[in-house]
Amino acid sequence: MVIDKVRLGAFLEKLAAEIVAREDWGKVADYIPELAKVDPAQFAVSMVLADGTELNAGATDQRFSIQSVSKVFTLASVLGRQGESVWVRVGREPSGDRFDSILLLEQEKGRPRNPFINAGAIVTTDELLAGRTPREALSEILIFLRDAAEDEDIQIDEKVAASEKRTGFRNAALANYLASFGNLKNPPEMTLGTYFHQCAIEMTTLQLARAGRSIAQLPVSARMLLPERARRICSLMMTCGHYDGSGDFAFRVGLPGKSGVGGGILLIAPKRASIALWSPGLNGYGNSQMGTYAAERIARFTGWSVFG
Ligand code: DON
Repeated sequence: MVIDKVRLGAFLEKLAAEIVAREDWGKVADYIPELAKVDPAQFAVSMVLADGTELNAGATDQRFSIQSVSKVFTLASVLGRQGESVWVRVGREPSGDRFDSILLLEQEKGRPRNPFINAGAIVTTDELLAGRTPREALSEILIFLRDAAEDEDIQIDEKVAASEKRTGFRNAALANYLASFGNLKNPPEMTLGTYFHQCAIEMTTLQLARAGRSIAQLPVSARMLLPERARRICSLMMTCGHYDGSGDFAFRVGLPGKSGVGGGILLIAPKRASIALWSPGLNGYGNSQMGTYAAERIARFTGWSVFG
């Protein structure tokens, strides 16, 4: 099906205007004090299509904290550098628990269910750190994002990283618990510091949609992943990208997505489009409330779905 780009652009404008007029934004993340300061009543969507067309609506030049969306790019970097060996340390199953839960970690002897819950992402960051300094590991993620987005102006917000470091008690618990099972190669504080910085990368929706071209396998992507790797990352985004809300997201949207507590969602229509959504108010799962709503509306409008 050929998509009418003019109609799609008009639809996104209308959707943004409709959302801005609503009042059910959800609540901003307050366990990271810097994020608690953000006004929830904001929305942006950017989309890059397979032919390179870019469509934008809302506050698409506003930078936001990508938080857990970064976990997709850390995983891609680790797989690119080390191949599949990371799967010894982290699984590929949805957890059905909150993103910061410690419950299964005890039962399953320190091997997190997947690389997108916090425990699993701490392991992939630890893997990326192997044999290198935190600065080098963070550079690798930033270089990946800058290359993929073809934009050098992508940085870490040090204030957000410091804010999470001060209050990230659950992540500290998870890192120490992982270390107690021998599933951390570096000192917990080193891995955690790197993880907090990775989560504190800030981007606009346009930058994120451009970076996502690599995951979406768009021919216009400046950084291509192996097709099998991109497909596998998308499978994990579909099954685990929204934590204990992943089933509901798949049901409503039918496309792989990865959320972050900054309110960002990277949504992938494989080989068709890379879509970035941002709205900082969160639903009960800690995923963007209006971002999820917009993803559902976009999937319905375009007919895009990995289920045919
Ligand atoms: O580790 C944390 O709690 C945050 N830096 C990231 C969590 C997150 O984004 C969950 N996503 N919705």
